[in-house]
Amino acid sequence: MRCINCGAVYTPNFRLYRCPKCGGLLEIISPIYWAPSGRGVWRYGTMLPVRQGVTLGEGGTPLVESQLGRGIYIKFEGANPTGSFKDRGMALGITVAKNSGADKVVVASTGNTAASAAAYAARAGMTCYVVLPRGNVARGKLMQAALHGAEIVTIDGFFDRALEYVLTYGTKYAYPLNSFNPWRLEGQKTIAFEIFEELGCPDYVVVPVGNAGNISAIWKGFRELHQLGLCRRLPKMVGVQAEGAAPIAKAWQLGLEEPLFLDNPHTVATAIKIGKPINWRKAVAAVQQSDGFFTQVTDGEILKAQRLLAARDGIGAEPAGAASIAALLKLNLSGTVVAVVTGHALKDPDAVEISTREIRNSEELVHMLEK
Ligand SMILES: Cc1ncc(COP(=O)(O)O)c(C=O)c1O
Ligand SMILES: [Zn+2]
Repeated sequence: MRCINCGAVYTPNFRLYRCPKCGGLLEIISPIYWAPSGRGVWRYGTMLPVRQGVTLGEGGTPLVESQLGRGIYIKFEGANPTGSFKDRGMALGITVAKNSGADKVVVASTGNTAASAAAYAARAGMTCYVVLPRGNVARGKLMQAALHGAEIVTIDGFFDRALEYVLTYGTKYAYPLNSFNPWRLEGQKTIAFEIFEELGCPDYVVVPVGNAGNISAIWKGFRELHQLGLCRRLPKMVGVQAEGAAPIAKAWQLGLEEPLFLDNPHTVATAIKIGKPINWRKAVAAVQQSDGFFTQVTDGEILKAQRLLAARDGIGAEPAGAASIAALLKLNLSGTVVAVVTGHALKDPDAVEISTREIRNSEELVHMLEK
C-alpha cells in the first residue's frame, strides 16, 4: 500500500485505511496481470488484490450505444444487483472485511453504499450498521437497507457529518466500508476493465462525483491497463458535480489548489449531496493526470437529462446517475465518450413527477389509441 500524499509504502494490511505517518489516503499496489476469465467483477481477479470472494453477480453491466449523440456510450451501473456501482466495491470490501476477521461492518451513506453494504453483509453473514443523514436519503435506498436487515442509524446533518462519525468512532468497533477504504475502491476499478474489453480505450469517461472515490478508482483501472501495455492512449476523465454540491468543480474552475468545502450542500441528486469529498486528492490527481476536467450541472439540467435518457435511450437513472448525461449534453465532446450512469431510477421514485390520465370506460381508451 502506498500513501498518495507522502509516498510512504506499507505492507498490505486490510485494517489500514489512512497513512499512519501523515494521515493521507492510501492506494493499493499489488502484483497484477491481465487474464480475464469468468464474468463480473471476479472476472478480473488477477488484477485485484484478492483473487476471489463474495459475490452477488455484480459487474458485467450493459454498455449501451446512446441515441443522444454520436460516439456516446452509456455504462449502466444501475444494472448491478442492488442498483448501483457500489456493488463492485462491496464484493471486494466485504471479502476483505471477512478475511480480516471482522463480523461487523459500518458505513456512512447517502443511500447507495448503505443498500449495497447491507446486501453484501447479509450474503456474508455479517452485521451491517449504516449511518444516514436524516431526510437526505432516497426512499428506495432506505428500503433496501431495511430489507437486507441493516441496523439503521440516522443523524441530523449531511453525509459529511455521518462520515465523520464513522471515521472517528466506527472504525474502532466495526470494519468501515466507505470509499476512504482503498480495498473497496479496487472493486470499482473493474468499470475501466469492462469498458476496455468492449470498446478499447475511449476518448472521455464522464463520471458523477460525490465523495470522489469512483472516478479515482476508474482512473486507477485505466492506468493499470496502460502499465500493462494494454491501453495505449488513456481517456480523459471528466468529473461532474451538482451545482449546489460542487466543492471540487468550483475550485477547479477557479484554478484553486484545494476544494471549496461546503457545510450545506444542496441538490436533488442526494447521492452526490456531499460538501467535503474525502477522496478529493485522488480525484484531482486522476483528472490532472488524464488531462481531463471537472464541471458542474444544475438540478434542472440533471432532471432534464434524466428524462431524456429515459425517453430516448430507455435507461432509467436516479438523478445523480444522470449527472454525467447532463454534462455530456452541455459539453459537446468529440470522439468516443463513455458516460457512467451510476444508479438506477428505482432508487429514488420521488424524484420523478408522474402524470396519468384517468378514463371512465373502454371507449375513452379506444379514442385515445386512435389519435
Ligand atoms: C448514484 C451515485 N452516483 C455517484 C456517486 C458518487 O460516487 P463517489 O462518492 O465515489 O464520487 C454515488 C455515491 O454515493 C452514487 O450513489
Ligand atoms: Zn503519508
